Amino acid sequence: MMATEDNNFPSAQRDALFAEGKIAINNVRVFDGHQLLPATTVIIENDTIKSIGLGTDANTHIDGNGGVLLPGFIDAHAHPRNVTDLQDLSRYGVTTAMLMACFSSQHCQSLKDHAGLVDIVAGSVPAAAPGSTHAKIVVMMDGNEDRLVKNASVASQWVDDAVAWGPDFVKLIADSPGLDQQALNILTKRSHEHGKRVACHASALEAYTQASSAGVDSIQHVPLDKPVSPDLARHIASRGQVVTPTLSIMRAISDASPGTRNYTAAEESVKQLKEAGVPIVAGTDANLVQGLVATVPFGISLHEELRLMVDAGLSPAEALRAATSVSAQHWGLYDRGVIAPGKRADLVLLSGNPFEDISATKTIQRVWLAGVEFSGAIGTF
Ligand SMILES: *[C@@H]1O[C@H](CO)[C@@H](O)[C@H](O)[C@H]1NC(C)=O
Ligand SMILES: *[C@@H]1O[C@H](CO)[C@@H](O)[C@H](O)[C@H]1NC(C)=O
Ligand SMILES: *[C@@H]1O[C@H](CO)[C@@H](O)[C@H](O)[C@H]1NC(C)=O
Ligand SMILES: *[C@@H]1O[C@H](CO)[C@@H](O)[C@H](O)[C@H]1NC(C)=O
Ligand SMILES: [Zn+2]
Repeated sequence: MMATEDNNFPSAQRDALFAEGKIAINNVRVFDGHQLLPATTVIIENDTIKSIGLGTDANTHIDGNGGVLLPGFIDAHAHPRNVTDLQDLSRYGVTTAMLMACFSSQHCQSLKDHAGLVDIVAGSVPAAAPGSTHAKIVVMMDGNEDRLVKNASVASQWVDDAVAWGPDFVKLIADSPGLDQQALNILTKRSHEHGKRVACHASALEAYTQASSAGVDSIQHVPLDKPVSPDLARHIASRGQVVTPTLSIMRAISDASPGTRNYTAAEESVKQLKEAGVPIVAGTDANLVQGLVATVPFGISLHEELRLMVDAGLSPAEALRAATSVSAQHWGLYDRGVIAPGKRADLVLLSGNPFEDISATKTIQRVWLAGVEFSGAIGTF
């Protein structure tokens, strides 16, 4: 029973957190989520981006010193458990995070809607089969064997129960031993009937094939046994699925058990998936759960993930899109992931240029979360 404490601290009136009137961020090169634009001015008003390059009418002026302004980063796979974790994500410029598993709806809801902190998109309890590795995790976190998916005939009802509290998406686990293909298919179909996206864990090649065949929307992780073949990568692309490789945790796991887990295979999969045109989404699997799989720190790991994706063959621009516009598009978060008029003012101001060297994301001068500036931005690290 680890994930049960609540985080219902009083949050200040949202309006009181905004700076007075309009803020102009001058002299910044803008990464709009797609490409890097020449130096200009971005104006934000309350929680919204007002304009780019139009006028300088504002109450407050901030000199960007020729730095790069980006959409706030999205960590599309994380396991924050308390407000300290949310603050760490925010400090490092992560303005949206997908909470990849909820064991207590009350606890997960207590992590949502904190003005001035990272915005949380929450998943369901993971669908895991009795006897699987993840069954132990579900039982440990939740203390309840009844939450496991016993067989395909109960899969549809399992989804109905899992979405009852209103998670934003459904989390499945493909593994062997684990859910069979029929159960995965039914879980996916029923989730879609509820209008929920399906994110499926798969960290071995066989499970990857199963997840793709089931028609899930995103596959989480990359195999640590053998790389995804060009054929499988094309199949994933043709089904419109996206992949969140979570190289941070794949590397941590393979470092912890060298010889049995192959990080080179993980990198090779990223190359094959990119080659096949599969959209790649940035996620870290950040978690501080001791003794479970491997711990990955919040916030700082998103910057490590960007570097690992570049090492695995993405260009800096592709890695930055994976953490902004591509992720927002996949998750249906059409109000963010780009810098454009009318979008949420989720912004990160860097002093360096990550298009020259991806490690320049580690020069965070300022962070805004829906227009609220975070006072503890990490700076250069
Ligand atoms: C911004 O907030 C102020 C104060 O609440 C309000 O008067 C103004 O209309 C808001 N602007 C927009 C564009 O919503
Ligand atoms: C959040 O959890 C971490 C351990 O995971 C702990 O160190 C920290 O003190 C906790 N913060 C709060 C506010 O409970
Ligand atoms: C599936 O599991 C349920 C719940 O444990 C059980 O009642 C049912 O008999 C099982 N069905 C099959 C076909 O094994
Ligand atoms: C790890 O994977 C790479 C890429 O597929 C392969 O070339 C290498 O032989 C593998 N190493 C081991 C120890 O299996
Ligand atoms: Zn995870």
